[in-house]
Amino acid sequence: MKRILLGALGAVVLAAVSAMAAVSLGLIPFSADEPHSEAVRSLIVFARERSIAMAAVGVTIPDDLASPERIRRGAGNYEAMCAGCHLSPGAADTEIRKGLYPQPTNLSTKAEGQAVEAADARRFQIVKHGVKGSGMPAWSKGGMDDGAIWDLVAFVRVLPDTSPAGYRALVEVSDGHSHAGMEGMGHEHGQHDHGAHPHAHAGHDHHGH
Ligand code: HEC
Repeated sequence: MKRILLGALGAVVLAAVSAMAAVSLGLIPFSADEPHSEAVRSLIVFARERSIAMAAVGVTIPDDLASPERIRRGAGNYEAMCAGCHLSPGAADTEIRKGLYPQPTNLSTKAEGQAVEAADARRFQIVKHGVKGSGMPAWSKGGMDDGAIWDLVAFVRVLPDTSPAGYRALVEVSDGHSHAGMEGMGHEHGQHDHGAHPHAHAGHDHHGH
């Protein structure tokens, strides 16, 4: 019995020492163009999903999440703040999304296998608090209030069922980039005029590189 216990303890210590050695030797890649090993990736995904699920437990979902008004308000903010990373119906992949690791989910296509309620609370949690070390910002830190975050959740829900024309129409009638918490940020802009951006580098429509 004592021997088995010592053996088990030895195995645990060995595993911990090997993990520390791998980390110290720089074997866990941190370059965004080099994926994690499957073992490291699964561990991170498991830890992330457990953390988000636990944090989302107390979240109360508003009754009017399907309201057209919420969806309309969410559209302009989505186009201004999210589409560059999460794409929109019919849009080509973006430079920023191609380079990010983990790669932002394409929110214009259907996500698989999650109960609707859990998905709503999870999205709220993610948009409000962000995801550490991933490029997904905690939008509440920039001052976005819960109402505006729910508008985005309402919009993201219907996005996979929205056509490119439907998307453009929704963005058109929305209030553009405007949400509570923007006061004093000095940029009450509606539609972005991407054509006016001064930077240019090869390979892209209006900044060809
Ligand atoms: C700079 C890029 C970037 C921007 C801008 C951004 N996100 Fe994200 N977002 C990410 C990344 C990266 C992830 C994935 C995190 C992960 O896999 O650990 C993510 C994850 C998410 C998820 C969870 C997706 C899923 O089901 O796995 C949602 C929902 C989301 N973002 C919504 C938004 C909304 C809404 C906005 C705009 C207010 C936004 N994001 C802006 C990078 C971004």
